[in-house]
Amino acid sequence: MQLSDVDLTDPDLFQRGVPYDQFALLRREAPVFWHEESDGPGFWAITRYQDLKRISKQPQLFSSERMGTLRQESSEEDLAIIRNIILNMDPPKHRQYRALVNKAFTPRMVNSLRPRIQQMVKRIINGVIEKGECDFVEDVAAKLPLEVICEMMGVPEEDRRRVYEIGNSLVGFDDPDLQETGQPRDHSGAQDAFAEMFLYGTKLREKAISHPADDLATGLVNAEIDGHKLADLDFNFFFLVLLVAGNETTRTVTSNGMIALLEHPDQHADVQADLSLLNSTVEEILRFAPAVHTFRRQATADVEIRDQQIRENQKLMLWYTSANRDEEVFDAPDTFHIRREPNDHLAFGVGEHFCLGANLARLELREIFRGILTRFHGMEITAKPRRLRSTFINGVKEMQVAFEPGPSLD
Ligand code: HEM
Repeated sequence: MQLSDVDLTDPDLFQRGVPYDQFALLRREAPVFWHEESDGPGFWAITRYQDLKRISKQPQLFSSERMGTLRQESSEEDLAIIRNIILNMDPPKHRQYRALVNKAFTPRMVNSLRPRIQQMVKRIINGVIEKGECDFVEDVAAKLPLEVICEMMGVPEEDRRRVYEIGNSLVGFDDPDLQETGQPRDHSGAQDAFAEMFLYGTKLREKAISHPADDLATGLVNAEIDGHKLADLDFNFFFLVLLVAGNETTRTVTSNGMIALLEHPDQHADVQADLSLLNSTVEEILRFAPAVHTFRRQATADVEIRDQQIRENQKLMLWYTSANRDEEVFDAPDTFHIRREPNDHLAFGVGEHFCLGANLARLELREIFRGILTRFHGMEITAKPRRLRSTFINGVKEMQVAFEPGPSLD
């Protein structure tokens, strides 16, 4: 393989599997690599850990706001909309907005969810354990993050299925299975989903005002800094980002983690026998098989990185999947090692936009794997998992598994 063979824009390639060989080549030979694009002006592919970290910590120089955080180009009209989403803001606006939502999203609030999350895990596993088989993605991995976000935001039971479908459509913008016409370049499903969810946010906001509860929605409606509250539409945008950022990601890590454990039966048995390894196992899963491949930044001035001249307004893509396998930082980076220490992976990003939901995601992942490890025995994958067609999310759409049937618990 040579640098001329590298193509990080091909969703078919990512659907077959993460191109770790291309990332290793880039880290070795061209860590700041000019990558041509058939559907855009080209970008700098950033594949090394320290570079990714440095860039993420300089939001003034590497903007999330100027052109958004996705690789695909957006029209000015679309940019005006997506700049209202926290992911696509720069300081000082980002700091103010983040402080507001942080206020509602406190560690106390997250921790208070633990007993509810444990109940949800029990119910999710009860739903399949007697059958001895299921689609791990839909029946186990997808359920917990969806339930948690819906509960935090006050989405009633009967609307959750639609919220689930819409979230899939938003993230699966490159996967014809998840768009209405089934055509590879048809993104209309994602656009309609965006509009529908946005409108739905208004309903939730009105409910949070008329029926205040001890939940995130009410916290968001009331949070105030220097006398300023979240504007009406900001609430909707925040709901939308939670749905996308918090749902597909946690589901993906759960599915990828299960695959990693099943592919490493000795370590699977070790953590099953000793749950004190649970936290380091979850961290290793996050490093080894993260949910988000990449986010974008736009240079706001000419700047040099590793002797490469980046020009103002050029695009940079930060490849978390590659940084997590950087041999300058991790020993034997391609080895799955549940006792890895230290393990400062970048699965949640770093710097200005470090994942707001990292504490919540960790809590969900620990509790779902605690449930899985204690209650499922003899699990095996019975058909090749179907991966998401996406260069953005490292997702799995379907994974049929069989296991020893067990009892439903009270
Ligand atoms: C394992 C699961 C998750 C992974 C791998 C993940 C990953 C990430 C990454 C890489 C970023 C950085 C984006 C950037 O630098 O541009 C991010 C930001 C964010 N995440 Fe997560 N995330 C996860 C779960 C969650 C959850 C559960 C929530 C909320 C319920 C959440 C909400 C957010 C938000 C709001 C941001 C934007 C923060 C900002 O712009 O300041 N994420 N996430």
